[in-house]
Amino acid sequence: MSIRKVSGILESKPTMEGAGVHLKSVFGYNEVPFLDPFLLLDDFHSDRPSDYIAGFPWHPHRGIETVTYMLHGKVKHGDSMGNEGVIEPGDVQWMTAGSGIIHEEMPKRSDLLWGFQLWVNLPASHKMMNPRYQEIKRAQIPEVILGKARIRVICGEVAGINGPVRDIVVEPQYLDVTIPPNQDFELSVKKGHTLFAYVIDGKGWFDTESSAIGAEELVIFGDGNFLRIRADDGVRFLLISGKPIGEPVAWHGPIVMNTQEELDIAFQEYRSGSFIKKK
Ligand code: CO
Repeated sequence: MSIRKVSGILESKPTMEGAGVHLKSVFGYNEVPFLDPFLLLDDFHSDRPSDYIAGFPWHPHRGIETVTYMLHGKVKHGDSMGNEGVIEPGDVQWMTAGSGIIHEEMPKRSDLLWGFQLWVNLPASHKMMNPRYQEIKRAQIPEVILGKARIRVICGEVAGINGPVRDIVVEPQYLDVTIPPNQDFELSVKKGHTLFAYVIDGKGWFDTESSAIGAEELVIFGDGNFLRIRADDGVRFLLISGKPIGEPVAWHGPIVMNTQEELDIAFQEYRSGSFIKKK
């Protein structure tokens, strides 16, 4: 058994994206070497509609997956394939852009908007796969009790229970973990997979040597096959892992490919109206 140790800590930083949405960037472009296959994590958390109401009007994606998980408030979405819907509290949308979609993501006015968007890279072999949505409602996400911890299993397996998001190329695990006060948490994890925790609330000790890590901080783990976390006062965090891709990353805005040439083609197709591939 090899216990995962904390190898890096990042603090989320205020930034502005979309049509003027104030949010916190947890990691992104500059962290690519450390979090493969993950590209970006944004935390939008505000009780002021002026921070988010401008939303993310029509924009393209290619070569990646975007994963939206809401805790509070609602996000309306629509896309070039004619899909539309509302992501509500506790719901997850796992959107595989593949060869390309054009979509909009517009938060609705409420007293609190709180959610996360994760970008997951696709390997060269799958960058141009057919676009696909997995729309998961709150009630479809199983809750597993492990020791005294409560785990919402969105993707991957815990204690024989599989999350509802399936068939994702990088074999991710996406968990929402709550550990009550004065409890330890232990979990077997896949050796060789990139693993991080993003603290939502409270604070935790993510290995025996690190200091306490609190809300809006990210923990990147070194390799190993076992995780041990202590929570004196209770802690809630996202725990996410995936298999590294190990390919070159060419990234501009909402499109992530392997080469600059592929990026140029994507933006040229977007301008000329041939971005969306017909099946
Ligand atoms: Co988008």
